[in-house]
Amino acid sequence: MNEKSEIQKFLKQQKTLFGNELFFKSTNTINEDKTLLSNRRHLSSDLIQFCNSICLCQECPLASTRNNFVFGVGDPNADLMLIGEAPGEKEDQKGEPFVGKSGKLLDKILRAINKSRNEGVYIANVLKCRPPDNRDPLASEVDKCEPYLLRQIKLIKPKLIVSLGRVSGKTLLKTDIPLKEMRSTLHDYHGIPLKVTYHPAALLRNPNFKKDAWEDFQWVRDYLTR
Ligand code: URA
Repeated sequence: MNEKSEIQKFLKQQKTLFGNELFFKSTNTINEDKTLLSNRRHLSSDLIQFCNSICLCQECPLASTRNNFVFGVGDPNADLMLIGEAPGEKEDQKGEPFVGKSGKLLDKILRAINKSRNEGVYIANVLKCRPPDNRDPLASEVDKCEPYLLRQIKLIKPKLIVSLGRVSGKTLLKTDIPLKEMRSTLHDYHGIPLKVTYHPAALLRNPNFKKDAWEDFQWVRDYLTR
């Protein structure tokens, strides 16, 4: 990809994330800059700077097939962080995680526990770029991308991480056990409690899982309010 189209891609990504404002590193603190505050679409300045520093990533071959780098979306002060697998087609087009059918279901589940992707929740994926044909992430891609996720988690400092689906769970926990088993315990991911539950796409494919998923999210709600 030539320099011009990289710049165009960068600007498009910035527009998706922040609207028509352009953000650059500055000495202003977030409290000093009211314009920045009103336009930041719930990203703290540290997250914005971090996003800017990685969104042209070329660390793995997914850089050449992506339309958009999908950094993450939500409340920078979230106490709940949801982590999916990787962007799908719609997410790759829009530059935002979980915007397709499974995203709609996820929003519905969040509403049922009195949360939304803008309030108290931050949503990201293990991979920031879409794997071709939505295949599972490769270990080599995870090796390059997971440090980005870790840095995001360090900046957001959630009280709880919920890993959505077996692929996200097994990738983060470095264990290849069935989802049922992963669901049954509260895990630890770099010092943050991590719960694994069904991926919303699995709930769409098999509505029988909805009851268990709802139990998990009720547990999440109670965990965060105790
Ligand atoms: N599935 C995921 O795991 N993540 C998304 O962002 C969309 C679908």
